[in-house]
Amino acid sequence: MTQARITIDRDFTVAEVPRRLFGSFVEHMGRCVYSGIYEPGHPEADARGLRQDVLKLVREMGPTVVRYPGGNFVSGYNWEDGVGPVEDRPVRIDGAWHTIETNAFGLHEFVEWSKEAEVEVMEAINLGTRGVDEARALVEYANHPGGTYWSDLRRKNGAATGTQQDPFGIKLWCLGNELDGPWQIGHKTADEYGRLAQESAKAMKLVDDSIELVAVGSSSRQMPTFGTWEHTVLSHTYEEVDYISMHAYYQEHDGDAASFLAEGVDMDAFIDGVIATIDAVKAAGKHSNQVNISFDEWNVWYQRGLDGEDQPHNVAKAGWREAPRVIEDTYSVTDAVVVGSLLHSLLRHGDRVTIANQAQLVNVIAPIRSEAGGPAWRQASFWPFARMSALAKGQIMQLAVDSGKTPTAKFGDVDAVDATATWDEQTGRLALFLANRSMEEGAEVSVDLRGLSASGVRSAEVLTIPEGGDRNSANVLDAQDTVGLKTLQEVGIEDGVLHVKLPALSWSVLELDVERA
Ligand code: AHR
Repeated sequence: MTQARITIDRDFTVAEVPRRLFGSFVEHMGRCVYSGIYEPGHPEADARGLRQDVLKLVREMGPTVVRYPGGNFVSGYNWEDGVGPVEDRPVRIDGAWHTIETNAFGLHEFVEWSKEAEVEVMEAINLGTRGVDEARALVEYANHPGGTYWSDLRRKNGAATGTQQDPFGIKLWCLGNELDGPWQIGHKTADEYGRLAQESAKAMKLVDDSIELVAVGSSSRQMPTFGTWEHTVLSHTYEEVDYISMHAYYQEHDGDAASFLAEGVDMDAFIDGVIATIDAVKAAGKHSNQVNISFDEWNVWYQRGLDGEDQPHNVAKAGWREAPRVIEDTYSVTDAVVVGSLLHSLLRHGDRVTIANQAQLVNVIAPIRSEAGGPAWRQASFWPFARMSALAKGQIMQLAVDSGKTPTAKFGDVDAVDATATWDEQTGRLALFLANRSMEEGAEVSVDLRGLSASGVRSAEVLTIPEGGDRNSANVLDAQDTVGLKTLQEVGIEDGVLHVKLPALSWSVLELDVERA
């Protein structure tokens, strides 16, 4: 049995929980939009085609902000194609995912959906094939009250389609997507992108100076240009932007689950590297504004690509199809524990990572699955996200963790127990999130609270291998509730110290009633 000692001190906090950390992502890709969130004619869809069964699960999962419409898709997208009467919208080919885009769903429909989902819209613009003019036109279309060409067109289109005519009030904007990647339509060098992003940002803020802008960072830590890309892009854009993006996807390689379970170590280091680069540019440029991080694509993704092929970006072979089944990964208990610990890493960095979007929301590498004409259900990875979004409130606590180790090939010995916590003084609740990354040993954890006294355990839940299952157990169409949260039995408070026993390979959440000691 691994031993772990955690100390939480009332006076050691990181930052207030940035609620945008619990973001998600809807791309026009595969079946995320079509037969994901939108399926006219489905028995659960409303008159607008919005699937209410999916919306119910989305609200339960609790994303706070949703990025849209891409992703690689956005780098070849004309936003004007997705507005106006549906019968007049052009059918286009989408080169990014080699599919047919009907444009039946566009910006107005997404704004309608976001109201129902109770999420903030994070809109990405196309800086692959387009530029400054289309970017500023879109901001005017979305946010200007009226009396101008683009804002009046929004009002007209809203009236024609029975959708919102009032300004959408979109605050968060991504200046393109993954333009450092050779696969991206309109791929650019850091200098080319930096200049374009700077001028687009300037023009967009001249239309609406209340917006917040995200410059494109590296597509992954493995990109050959990682580091220099951020430095160059920020050297051009530092004064104009509020965030730089990060993207990271993780998967188990060659059965090495131990290293996979410890990928939070990689995420921590990746974040620390980007913070260092931001601060270097800030210091050298003598800037006073603070650029933070928007980790706007992260998840577990088994990069098998289309129909199980190994090259995720080589999708052309299958021919032109409408809303094909693309990268619909099934997530296991192991994947859910990794998702939990990646969320820990994001929360630990909540002073600098203030937006994060799990990619994606429905069907495409997603915590929610749905079938055309059929049901929608929660994947195993749904649970850590849902509980953390619901309970991580107030201050992020700075934890001292002294944990027994577990060996990994990739990172050496790492802490078996990975933890993070938040304390909301107003409600008197402390939420503790724990991953046991060891597949062999359970863990005995003691949590010493300093300056706080715990009067009781409000709830204690665990996600682990289900009875009769194994670490690959998952929720699938014919068995949708195999993996879920159960009550964590061995929990107690003794002399002010919380004691809890975690099963091997598990993710747990405890909510305590606490007050100042
Ligand atoms: O989320 C899937 C894809 O991953 C996105 O379209 C792209 O930005 C990234 O490569």
